Amino acid sequence: PAPTPGFPLPTVHTQQAFDPAANFTSKWTRADAKQIMAQSNPNVTAGQNSMSPNVTMPEIPKDFPAMNDDVWVWDTWSLTDQNANQISYKGWDVIFSLVADRHAGYGFDQRHWNARIGYFFRKTNADPAKDKWNYGGHLFLDNTSIGNTEWSGSTRLMQGDHVNVFYTATTFYDRAERNAGGGGIAPDAVIAKALGNIHADQNGVTFDGFQHTKLLEPDGKLYQTKAQNAGFAFRDPYTFEDPAHPGQTFMVFEGNTAGNRGSYKCTDADLGYQAGDPHAENTNTVNTTTGSWFQTASVGLAVADNKDLTQWHFLPPILSANCVNDQTERPQIFIQNENGKNKYYLFTISHQFTYADGMRGPDGVYGFVGNGVRSDFQPVNNSGLALGSPTDLNLPANNPSGTQSAQQNGRQFQAYSHYVQPGGLVQSFIDNVDGVRGGSLSPTVKINFAGGVTQVDRSFGKNGLGPFGYLPTNVRVGGEGLY
Ligand code: FRU
Repeated sequence: PAPTPGFPLPTVHTQQAFDPAANFTSKWTRADAKQIMAQSNPNVTAGQNSMSPNVTMPEIPKDFPAMNDDVWVWDTWSLTDQNANQISYKGWDVIFSLVADRHAGYGFDQRHWNARIGYFFRKTNADPAKDKWNYGGHLFLDNTSIGNTEWSGSTRLMQGDHVNVFYTATTFYDRAERNAGGGGIAPDAVIAKALGNIHADQNGVTFDGFQHTKLLEPDGKLYQTKAQNAGFAFRDPYTFEDPAHPGQTFMVFEGNTAGNRGSYKCTDADLGYQAGDPHAENTNTVNTTTGSWFQTASVGLAVADNKDLTQWHFLPPILSANCVNDQTERPQIFIQNENGKNKYYLFTISHQFTYADGMRGPDGVYGFVGNGVRSDFQPVNNSGLALGSPTDLNLPANNPSGTQSAQQNGRQFQAYSHYVQPGGLVQSFIDNVDGVRGGSLSPTVKINFAGGVTQVDRSFGKNGLGPFGYLPTNVRVGGEGLY
């Protein structure tokens, strides 16, 4: 692409695939992420949306309905198979959500400290505009999961009506911290799974028999530990199979680059500028003046060692965002055939307040495309930004749980935790629509993506907004048409 005046060129990424076990980590570079501002309009009236409509989530109406009156709902995923297909089980669509009690006396921003996995079901042929999701309650019995808080993951339907729930077992040690939300003793985090049974009849869906197994803890060599950084991230497992490596099960997850907090040194490759670019930053200057070394997000990869998926080992991260951003959350791999070739899209969510010094981007979902699970990933739209909440990127970043600038677009935190489903349908949860707090699923939107370019489909639904919490299934299992 031609450079935008005043901005550097993005890094050249070949999309070349490497062996999943190879020691190659693709970099989302500062040069790449600078394209977000290069593509943003510097001249909008303060508080308007400065991003291209192609990457802007349409505005959610302020009078959105609550999905459930008893629990707040946020990160959500469907019952899937190993290829990201969404499964209708005996005539029911089933989804899993982080939930927290709306009536327990804490606020929506304290949800993380009180999170449990809940589930919902509704008839596969329901009208998504009218029929509500039925709340099935907590997935696991009280005090049975590993850890005292359940964070995000994914759920796979296995042979014989078994399900494997991959989740983050987060353990908080400080009751006061759980109530107040932050500031106390850092939690532990492990990636775990629970193998259980799914049942369905005319009345709905139930689960039982869960057996929990601890799968992975950060090793401090490839993935940062709590001892290295109290604010480490190790969570959000998503498992899948790769047609290029049949018989193996992989997992992507959110991590941070190993090493003691503050010790990381940004490299030329993290900056990613092309030789002679007049808008390149100097690596030494970045390392001495900016604080960018504190931002060290990665997308981790692990592979299962046995068919029961109870034993795993780490592989090097497939993506790092060192000196760019500190969180690449809820990663997922979506494989799409383009011109007879499998293209691997890595999607991951990130926040505006987790960007490094000198970088600016919205809350939303980011994408990267390559020829394999491990590739020299090309950021979508050259920047990585696939879909963000309406934001005036000319104004400084705000923290969703902190004070927000009065001038900002009231929808800058309208939605988060975007999850890309088959057909480019993107669901997310409502966080804050012009001051009205959410805790419920957003209207689903659709993005079209091919060739590393993504575009919001504004012909979908009403001006680009589909039904609230629209997570349709595309593969049917069981039931023989009985239900
Ligand atoms: C994203 C997220 C996940 C985590 C969960 C905790 O919204 O931060 O990374 O698993 O929320 O509530």
